[in-house]
Amino acid sequence: MADKDPGQLIGQPGYIFDPYSLDFAEDPYPTYKWMRDEAPVYHQPEMNFWVLSRYEDVWKAHRDAATYSSKAGPQIERMEAPGLVLLGKDAPDHSWAKAMMTKVFSRERMASLDGFIRDKAISLLDKAYDEHGPDGEFDMVSAFSVELPLAVISELLGIPEELRAEVHRLSNIFISRDADLTPEAQQQGQAALFMLFYNLTQERRKDPKDDPVSMLIAIEVEDEDGVKHQARDDEIAMRFLEMGFAGHETVAKAIPNGAMALERFPEQKAKLKSDLSLIQRAVQEILRFDPPSQLQGRLTTKDVELHGVTIPADARVMLATGGATRDPRAFPNPDVFDIGRDMDSRTVAFGYGVHKCLGIHLAQQEIAIAFELLFSRYPDWKVFPDRTTRAVLSNVRGVASLPMVLGKRA
Ligand code: HEM
Repeated sequence: MADKDPGQLIGQPGYIFDPYSLDFAEDPYPTYKWMRDEAPVYHQPEMNFWVLSRYEDVWKAHRDAATYSSKAGPQIERMEAPGLVLLGKDAPDHSWAKAMMTKVFSRERMASLDGFIRDKAISLLDKAYDEHGPDGEFDMVSAFSVELPLAVISELLGIPEELRAEVHRLSNIFISRDADLTPEAQQQGQAALFMLFYNLTQERRKDPKDDPVSMLIAIEVEDEDGVKHQARDDEIAMRFLEMGFAGHETVAKAIPNGAMALERFPEQKAKLKSDLSLIQRAVQEILRFDPPSQLQGRLTTKDVELHGVTIPADARVMLATGGATRDPRAFPNPDVFDIGRDMDSRTVAFGYGVHKCLGIHLAQQEIAIAFELLFSRYPDWKVFPDRTTRAVLSNVRGVASLPMVLGKRA
């Protein structure tokens, strides 16, 4: 599908939405605008899925897990064995599996990482400064925005020091979009990472320590029928794999998305630089303006009537997060990046309802610290959004590289 073809221009006769075109990856917002206004329940005939793009519709679908099931996985395509991940489970299994994770990865545990995140962010920025000086250009993505969340998630998961280099190496294979890397090599990387977590779980089962793996082994939760559940070793390994992925790619995309938005709206950058107490609002706006997690896949469990259209039962539905967060029905002047904006507390950038992001506080903390330190330590930092590279990814959106200079250290 090529939407450069004149007959394929957005909304023109013959147009078919291609979620994997580079044009769409580069700028999905004109497509979402057309869908919201002209086709709020859009049917894609070739891949046979439906798109909801208005804020209210996306928000309601997130809250109605009985109608919009996750059991075919979080992407547009149906996933193989989605039930292995939290994102692919429905109640009642999802409820107890998530309750376990929430107990171990509590808000307090995440908040306690504040000092670690700061130290890591400073060391990464200072390393880039030592290597490139105040005026030397480097890639923000590989030097900073990928490394920071990878280190943080290893710390959160309690990966032993001696395994971190290997987790880092395998995670990089797992998440790489390098064209030279074959799908087989990527699958092998993923399998090796799973085995590493699986072996670690087995070791801790024999010899428990004070760490999240041992806590997950020991924890028992009761479901609503009073049945007690404990996680098996393969389930724990899978949870770790999922956390590694969910907690890494998204933050790695959010930081450059935010840097580019601030560069493109210089008055907002100046406002934030002069008043860092606005940082939490800025984080909210970064996630609204260009959400790194752009879509959530669902499966209808019954016919759904919406805006005069019937979505049949057992149909794939794409909840377009990026469409929802730019909906003028919810956010006035949605295409303007404005850190002073009053946010809707029902933000959908982290999902909503039962599958709402487990790492919501940690993610916001990481992004806030990244920008706080950039402004306080390297106040003249600059990125060059016109010289990025972008890859087409399945449900996250962001750049693969972004040139940056740090300027003088404060
Ligand atoms: C800016 C960063 C992040 C964004 C935008 C984001 C976004 C999301 C979204 C939209 C969902 C819901 C998916 C759905 O409804 O199908 C989700 C779920 C999830 N996220 Fe995040 N996330 C971020 C960071 C993190 C971090 C740091 C962690 C781990 C520490 C994490 C772990 C998870 C997990 C485990 C789920 C599955 C929850 C469930 O299915 O019940 N995420 N995230």
